[in-house]
Amino acid sequence: MAEFNLPKNSQIQKGRHWPTAGAKQPRTFKVYRWNPDDGMNPRVDTYEVDMATCGPMVLDALIKIKNEIDPTLTFRRSCREGICGSCAMNIDGTNTLACTKAIEDCGKGEVPIYPLPHMEVVKDLVPDLTHFYAQYASIKPWLRTQSATPSDRERLQSPADRKKLDGLYECILCACCSTSCPSYWWNGDRYLGPAILLQAYRWIIDSRDEDTGARLDDLEDPFKLYRCHTIMNCARTCPKGLNPAQAIGEIKKLMLARRV
Ligand code: SF4
Ligand code: F3S
Ligand code: FES
Repeated sequence: MAEFNLPKNSQIQKGRHWPTAGAKQPRTFKVYRWNPDDGMNPRVDTYEVDMATCGPMVLDALIKIKNEIDPTLTFRRSCREGICGSCAMNIDGTNTLACTKAIEDCGKGEVPIYPLPHMEVVKDLVPDLTHFYAQYASIKPWLRTQSATPSDRERLQSPADRKKLDGLYECILCACCSTSCPSYWWNGDRYLGPAILLQAYRWIIDSRDEDTGARLDDLEDPFKLYRCHTIMNCARTCPKGLNPAQAIGEIKKLMLARRV
């Protein structure tokens, strides 16, 4: 697999230009391409898309390119509703979701589209999220309890305790935040990154969870948590408007509180 950070001896090659004859409202998209099977360096292909016959979102343009111009273009998508997180990529310089990013919000010129930064690439716009998902699994993202499950009802939660999950449960694990974080770029092997730490906090403050101490113990590590240096790219880029930096700050406060 090719890393997005190219090795010293490789360069992004000049790619193909795919003009669209007779386009009424042409718009140009510059798209990162890399195929592990052809032995070639990455390149950037240029596609002209007729906006008069294209939907409003960047994902609409990618689907149109794949359907009508170049069927070899590879990207992930599923819900086209900002829910599954699979279409996360770097569009016009920002990590975001292709299905909720309007083309008209990409400025006036060419629209550059790259895979999420600093991830290994499977092909074209598809990043390899294996390590990211392993980090997610490492925080054991499920309700951990010691008390017996009530036989006649679910574990209840007060409205006030339920409210503490707002701003956390909406995370769709798209990885836009983690791949925008310089600390995660350089230490992603050991630093959990903003997405996974937001998820960790989601379980730490869930009033029904009974393993808070062990969850905090697990994060008491110079790399897993403390490599966050409050750079804030995570909060700026989250396409769901969440604030992972704040969640990380809350975990740090809980760490301090239990020491005094
Ligand atoms: Fe995506 Fe936002 Fe969740 Fe990060 S916090 S994974 S950017 S939804
Ligand atoms: Fe990174 Fe966000 Fe912290 S960008 S350093 S996780 S505040
Ligand atoms: Fe599901 Fe974009 S396709 S979030």
